[in-house]
Amino acid sequence: MNIGIPKVLNPRFDHIGIAVDSIESSSKFYQDLGLSSGESEVVQNQGVEVLFFHTGETHIELLQPISKDSAIAKFLKRKGPGLHHIAFRVDDVTIALNHCISNGYIAIDKVPRVGAGGKLIAFLHPKSTGGVLIELMQN
Ligand code: CO
Repeated sequence: MNIGIPKVLNPRFDHIGIAVDSIESSSKFYQDLGLSSGESEVVQNQGVEVLFFHTGETHIELLQPISKDSAIAKFLKRKGPGLHHIAFRVDDVTIALNHCISNGYIAIDKVPRVGAGGKLIAFLHPKSTGGVLIELMQN
């Protein structure tokens, strides 16, 4: 399979998500690099607190679990802290997601849901994307 997302969707790299045990202690490195951040935000439906550091047009997202049964808590238990997902901004996340599903990629979210910053997001399973959890998001 080599389909990509239709060019009309205009995919742009947006951020890398990093799973952490503690946003507070993990922030130090990025602050020491000189990166600025926004305010942290709780995303209730994902059981996480997130904080974005800004690197020009792109970002680093730190994700800390706020519940034991959240996907991030399970990830940390399995793999420990580290790279969790990469995210692409698209013009229409519903079209992008349906395009991926119809081309055989495994969607974790069958329909987009509301993520950090109130943006519509959907995840594709790493099994179908070369081992990388992919987030599609709509600005
Ligand atoms: Co993300």
